[in-house]
Amino acid sequence: MKILKAKQKKIEGSRIFLVRKGQEAGKYITDPKELAYITEKLDGEKPLAILNRLDHVVLCMGMGQEELPLSGRLEKARIAGYEVHSKLTEYAVKSLTIVNAGIEPEECIAFAEGLALTNYQFLKYMSDKRTKQHPLNQILLYDPELSDWHVDYLENLIQAVYLTRDLVNEPLSYLTAVQLATEVEKMGKQSGFSVEIFNKRKIESLKMGGLLAVNKGSLDPPTFSILTWKPEDAVNKHPIVLVGKGVVYDTGGLSLKPTFDSMDYMKCDMGGAAAVSGAFFAVAKNRLPVWIVGLLPATDNRPDGNAYVPGDVVTMYDGTSVEVLNTDAEGRMILADALSYAKQYDPELVIELSTLTGSAQLAIDKYGMVGMGNADREVMENLKASGEYSSERIAEFPFWDEYNEQLKSEIADLKNIGGKNGGAITAGKFLEHFTDYPFIHLDIAGPSFNKLPFNYRGKGGSGVGVRLLYHFLLDRSS
Ligand code: BES
Ligand code: MN
Ligand code: ZN
Repeated sequence: MKILKAKQKKIEGSRIFLVRKGQEAGKYITDPKELAYITEKLDGEKPLAILNRLDHVVLCMGMGQEELPLSGRLEKARIAGYEVHSKLTEYAVKSLTIVNAGIEPEECIAFAEGLALTNYQFLKYMSDKRTKQHPLNQILLYDPELSDWHVDYLENLIQAVYLTRDLVNEPLSYLTAVQLATEVEKMGKQSGFSVEIFNKRKIESLKMGGLLAVNKGSLDPPTFSILTWKPEDAVNKHPIVLVGKGVVYDTGGLSLKPTFDSMDYMKCDMGGAAAVSGAFFAVAKNRLPVWIVGLLPATDNRPDGNAYVPGDVVTMYDGTSVEVLNTDAEGRMILADALSYAKQYDPELVIELSTLTGSAQLAIDKYGMVGMGNADREVMENLKASGEYSSERIAEFPFWDEYNEQLKSEIADLKNIGGKNGGAITAGKFLEHFTDYPFIHLDIAGPSFNKLPFNYRGKGGSGVGVRLLYHFLLDRSS
């Protein structure tokens, strides 16, 4: 999607005027009959008026009230962008100029964001892509208060979310662990971050026991990718490390998932790795002055002749012994090695994203992610504020040490599952064992993949996490 700043003085072609609800549109619509029609429409339930002028359409939309907090208005603006999208498709609009006619520039950006995100499609495997493709391919922003870089930033962020969604939507038949690493490498080349890929032999030599155990049932080798963005003007002396779960497919392993429904969408189990890659793409493209390192352990989780079994004891990368009591708790096995590996960077903060537990999804559904951690209150509050701003919200769960009780094993240092209560938290506590730095765990099992269309978040991979991390890092670097 092309997103540009409208340079011309005269507003031409299909356009939408965004006015504050209850405000006059007379400055932009001069014909009194048209204006009367628009005024009446804007007063109604759905404050949207459409004028069909044959070779272009003119829309006028009333946006949320000023009294709402900013995050609420931004989300309303994104949803408004989503709602307008079907109209634009109906009128086959290819290029739309968004005119700020009395709202805040940030709302204008959010409207464009919602519209652009709604326009996303994953058509790679469709024979009739051409006819299925949405006509819209360009958005022009007309707002004197917005600078070129505001608009470029948005375009790059949207592209980052698109790429993340593509990764999540790719099935295992294409996206093996090796292919995931290759795709991330491509994203690095496109945006400027560097990628180092460890192959199976290297992973064996490092003795990443958790990653190797999960990979035992697979015919395809695992990978471990290290992403780096370290600009000269970085504001931080110690990196922020982002860790993402890269299970390219989760069958559950020998603790096989029931085939009905629960396995159907498990290609999304690398949503954390995809989000981290997308965030790197946006940060590097926009050249944010912040030093970040990304760690992506990746494999599929399958049952096979040599698959790891319940009862196995695995020695992890840091030497911890783990009794495996459920091979479907594989995410924490591979993440644990990545988190131990992160120690060598002496990071100021580690944020890890994973589609880790059904328990997190059960608790809050698709409306946000579950977050927990031991980082300073201020850091957690800042991250949550970025969550509100981007509407990739975090519901914070407790992270009390009592939950560690559930992870005690009779024969090893830890076991890989807790009891039936507090499953999202015991998973987080398991991960915490492998850290010695400020740590935040985000469980995106709920919002990562939409089985049904969900506003501008779309159907399939939502790309959740990218906009959250991007805004958090933008805040930290300015
Ligand atoms: N990948 C799943 C979690 C998941 C569930 C992601 C639903 C997306 C949607 C994870 O590997 C898993 O299987 N977790 C188990 C853990 C249990 C065995 C302790 C779960 O939540 O059931
Ligand atoms: Mn699993
Ligand atoms: Zn999983």
